[in-house]
Amino acid sequence: MATTESPDGLRRVRSFVRRPGRLTPAQRRALDELLPRYCLDADQADARAAFAVPAPLVVEIGFGNGEALVGMAANEPQRNFLGIEVHEPGVGRALRALDEAGLDNVRVAMRDAVEVFDRQIRPGSLEQVRIYFPDPWPKKRHHKRRIVQADFVERLGTALGPGGLLHLATDWAPYAEWMRDVIGGLDTVFVNQGQPFVERPSWRPRTRFERRGLGRGHAIFDLLYVRR
Ligand SMILES: C[S@@+](CC[C@H](N)C(=O)[O-])C[C@H]1O[C@@H](n2cnc3c(N)ncnc32)[C@H](O)[C@@H]1O
Repeated sequence: MATTESPDGLRRVRSFVRRPGRLTPAQRRALDELLPRYCLDADQADARAAFAVPAPLVVEIGFGNGEALVGMAANEPQRNFLGIEVHEPGVGRALRALDEAGLDNVRVAMRDAVEVFDRQIRPGSLEQVRIYFPDPWPKKRHHKRRIVQADFVERLGTALGPGGLLHLATDWAPYAEWMRDVIGGLDTVFVNQGQPFVERPSWRPRTRFERRGLGRGHAIFDLLYVRR
């Protein structure tokens, strides 16, 4: 299994598999022409410094084709957004949408979120982290690939300031229970705002993966935590 090495020397199983994505010419052009404008440089040690106007920073991990990222950045101009996604065609689509919407409160990292958090997010520097419809890795032998793991969630807790929010959504009931259990085990860091789940907050736009889950008759689970 592919792994990522972090500065602490630990190797972690990656939460994604790089699919040799077929880029459309428009996506290729977007990566060539727009990524330089929107990207968070890999050597930027504090992601906050990448934004033109200082504002509370929200990170979306695994933004797919950017539907939620672009919608949230347009609806919440008082915040800055860092989107992290490894899938090139999705990043290409998101860049086009950002450009068409004329948004400048978004930066994009086309890298493993674990690496970005280890190297580019300072402790206490985030207002919120949003993770929508992460890959559920349903087979038991693949559970170690799930991005929601205790050590990574603890890292998110370090990145959030006191009172910061962690918001997750999934259409995969066993993953919702996994999230509840993993984050519930970190009760010195996070307080669950649900019983254990919350109603979909107004700020979360619908995405392709939510529509796919609904089309399959799945229930949607939102989980919301406050950093102590
Ligand atoms: C199931 S898709 C959901 C996409 C989107 N959030 C939505 O709701 O449509 C999960 C996404 O997370 C991305 N992803 C998984 N692990 C990641 C990681 N460690 N860093 C960055 N992106 C990751 C995948 O490439 C994939 O696009």
